[in-house]
Amino acid sequence: MVSILFITNNEHKVEEANRILSPFGVRLEMSPQKKVEIQSDSLVKIAKYAALMAAKKLKSPLLVEDSGLFIKTLNGFPGPFSSYVQKTIGCEGILKLLQGREDRDAVFRCAVAFWSPSLGIHTFQGRSLGRISLSVRGHAGFGFDPIFVPSGEDLTFAEMPPEQKDRFSHRGAAFRAFGSWLSSKNIAKP
Ligand code: IMP
Repeated sequence: MVSILFITNNEHKVEEANRILSPFGVRLEMSPQKKVEIQSDSLVKIAKYAALMAAKKLKSPLLVEDSGLFIKTLNGFPGPFSSYVQKTIGCEGILKLLQGREDRDAVFRCAVAFWSPSLGIHTFQGRSLGRISLSVRGHAGFGFDPIFVPSGEDLTFAEMPPEQKDRFSHRGAAFRAFGSWLSSKNIAKP
């Protein structure tokens, strides 16, 4: 097993990422450091900057993940502000903002920035297309899971078994891309 620090305060992200990465022989250790977050509408830039800042301090293999929900009819809001919006107005607040709107298209995006002394900095991305439901449904997962229905499905992320969410999710796509890239490097320790 390769062990990598995951700089985050969100244990749900760690649980999901470890589920997705275990077939690749990678184990993430949660490291609840304060993440240095720049103001940007690019999740990749935010994750990359935070990873490089953490690397200066920790000097061991680590990764940072930045993710968000982008709603089409709200011009991409809440996007990079998803965490703050979730804590303040929550799922119900988003449903109120969309009241009366027909277009409920949305996309979840995830950017992963990985750094190690031997491989340097690399980024990976994933997205999940879908729509915002008409009501809050389900109890699994976290954040906006109870109001997001991935394309071609009827259930929200919060109504699905975790492995089903992983198959459709932005985090699933980004961490699988990272896992197969790391496997292609064919190294025991990054
Ligand atoms: P950050 O990456 O720490 O800035 O936070 C991203 C925020 O986006 C989270 O706090 C959630 O509100 C939301 N989010 C990101 N990914 C997911 C997901 O898989 N399910 C539900 N909400 C998510």
